[in-house]
Amino acid sequence: METLPGGTQPQTIGILGAGKVGTGVARQALLAGYRVLIAASGDPANIGLIIQVMAPGAEAVTAERVMAEADLVVLSVPLHKFRTLDPAGLAGKHVVDTMNYWQDTNGEMPELADAPSSSEMVLAHIPGARLAKSLNHIGYHELELDARPAGAADRRALAVSTDDDATGALVREFVERLGFDAVDAGPLTNGTAFEPGTPIFTGWYDRAGVESELTAHLAASGKLEPAH
Ligand SMILES: NC(=O)c1ccc[n+]([C@@H]2O[C@H](COP(=O)([O-])OP(=O)(O)OC[C@H]3O[C@@H](n4cnc5c(N)ncnc54)[C@H](OP(=O)(O)O)[C@@H]3O)[C@@H](O)[C@H]2O)c1
Repeated sequence: METLPGGTQPQTIGILGAGKVGTGVARQALLAGYRVLIAASGDPANIGLIIQVMAPGAEAVTAERVMAEADLVVLSVPLHKFRTLDPAGLAGKHVVDTMNYWQDTNGEMPELADAPSSSEMVLAHIPGARLAKSLNHIGYHELELDARPAGAADRRALAVSTDDDATGALVREFVERLGFDAVDAGPLTNGTAFEPGTPIFTGWYDRAGVESELTAHLAASGKLEPAH
């Protein structure tokens, strides 16, 4: 695992998006012992009260500070806002994309036609980021409800896809510390296996269940390498 300031694991989680997912991830990350910075699109003062109530202990900051100080950046903005993410600020950063495409909310997004998974579209906009996809296939409220200690018989599993081995290790560690078994889903493009409409997106699975659904999806879509 990559060496980071203060140790071998991410210490500071930075969240872009202070809505349902952003504050939900912030709460669980605080419980797991991380320092948490969170930003919306504007002045941090606008979200001060929300953060005090929804994720006490997290620090409302600018998006610039999130990108400058976080060891791992969580993207939790509406997908159609992906072009407002700053490619320069995210260059070289470990980043996890929790976003999904919903036509009703996001409208038509022709860019998706060029990307098997929506995360590949996001990466094309922030090409210097070290991007993983995860946490998109769990409801924001389930982050708290379904979290379990490692080894619990009823521990839920979540998939992580990425083309970057170090980012994959960091994000899987993060997911584990949030209270879930993290399954290595292979390259970023394999995120199609856990996007809206898929069994993994829709259901509750333990590790064996995620692995089995992943294999079935990749076999059906002709992707050869289920995991790396
Ligand atoms: N809801 C769920 O259970 C769930 C579960 C998994 C994944 N997701 C996905 O997660 C993403 C976020 O969903 P949500 O339900 O949390 O949305 P939401 O409640 O609408 O919150 C979106 C947040 O993004 C902020 N934002 C917009 N552009 C930004 C930027 N450039 N930098 C920083 N913050 C920015 C908004 O701030 P302003 O108000 O200042 O614009 C707002 O705080 C979506 O892609 C969704 O599909 C949702």
